[in-house]
Amino acid sequence: MAKRKRRVAVIFGGRSGEHDVSLMSASGILGAIDKEKYEVVPIGITRAGEWLPPASAAALLAGDAPHAPHDCEAGSPSTALVADPGAGAMVTFDGTGTSGPALLQRFDVAFPVLHGPYGEDGTVQGFLELANIPYVGAGVLGSALGMDKVKMKELLRYHGLPVPEWVSFRRWQWLEDGAGVLRQASRFGFPCFVKPANLGSSVGVSKAHDPGELPAALEEAFRHDAKILVEEAIDAREIEVAVLGNHRPQASVPGEVVPCNEFYDYRAKYVDGRSELHIPAPLPGALAERFRTLAIDAFLALECAGMARVDFFLHRQSGAAYVNEINTLPGFTPISMYPKLWEASGVPYGELIDRLLQLAIERWQERNDGPAEGE
Ligand SMILES: Nc1ncnc2c1ncn2[C@@H]1O[C@H](COP(=O)(O)OP(=O)(O)O)[C@@H](O)[C@H]1O
Ligand SMILES: [Mg+2]
Repeated sequence: MAKRKRRVAVIFGGRSGEHDVSLMSASGILGAIDKEKYEVVPIGITRAGEWLPPASAAALLAGDAPHAPHDCEAGSPSTALVADPGAGAMVTFDGTGTSGPALLQRFDVAFPVLHGPYGEDGTVQGFLELANIPYVGAGVLGSALGMDKVKMKELLRYHGLPVPEWVSFRRWQWLEDGAGVLRQASRFGFPCFVKPANLGSSVGVSKAHDPGELPAALEEAFRHDAKILVEEAIDAREIEVAVLGNHRPQASVPGEVVPCNEFYDYRAKYVDGRSELHIPAPLPGALAERFRTLAIDAFLALECAGMARVDFFLHRQSGAAYVNEINTLPGFTPISMYPKLWEASGVPYGELIDRLLQLAIERWQERNDGPAEGE
């Protein structure tokens, strides 16, 4: 008899500013996942945070938002994960209020393809923990650390990894003592970078070229987050390494991003489309090895699992390497850096997805089998 297919929930969309990027990643994954081995259940999350059952999820993916936010009472079906560890399942409400929730499906594993807050930050991961469903990528702690650029940098520094200098501020400090914040934020000279602590895709990131540009840069970052950071600017090439695995992770060949704008801002990433990816990055062998080692060290320091993309700066003058950030749910379209780096390292897209699903199940089994008796 044929082996039962594993049922995979692919969760995409979501409340963050990176909703559209998530749809693109999910389309790629849904197209390439091995249908002989896996039965795929798409689950879409609208911008308002409503979970959609598979039929409406497909419409969301096609760019056709199925219905207005929170109109379940108006008759549209919606779906919810059951936070009961025995269920490992999702229920769908028919929206009419006439019948109770119907148990829809159990899952063997979930692939949260959600970038940014409410997806990449440990929240959905916590939900999947409660539901007792294995999931791809970092757990609650690793996801949360990867999302908060300040905590990420503090921990990387604690582990002896090189990071650009930074100072962080809270919105209340800016409101109570703007002059003091401006003084401290100027300590690295100009230009400097100002960023929200908890976003991605360069949303809210500015380069302040002189003291006159600093207030607007701070305002912009505080519009997106109550905690922000100011960093010394590194005149650098941008190198990225993909990491795959759990306890003994592997690093891909490094790649290089050459932004088409002054820095790798939102437009350079998603709008102008003229930024170049060089895979592998043109680097001397020893330097490539250094980036691969640093990537694994960062992955382990930040409690990652499954996958992460580690982004670096390579100082043009001194040749020094710095960790810029880690992305626990990197862009995952077939032309995104993470899958392309693995392809160049001998792991094609479809196989990569399979490996990630396997790693998720292995990690779950390890945690659930618990310590050996007597330990
Ligand atoms: N300290 C820095 N020095 C030089 N460039 C920087 C610095 N910080 C950010 N950048 C530029 O801004 C881009 C986005 O910043 P990043 O911290 O990676 O935020 P995000 O998480 O939104 O991608 C980087 O890819 C790089 O081009
Ligand atoms: Mg980045």
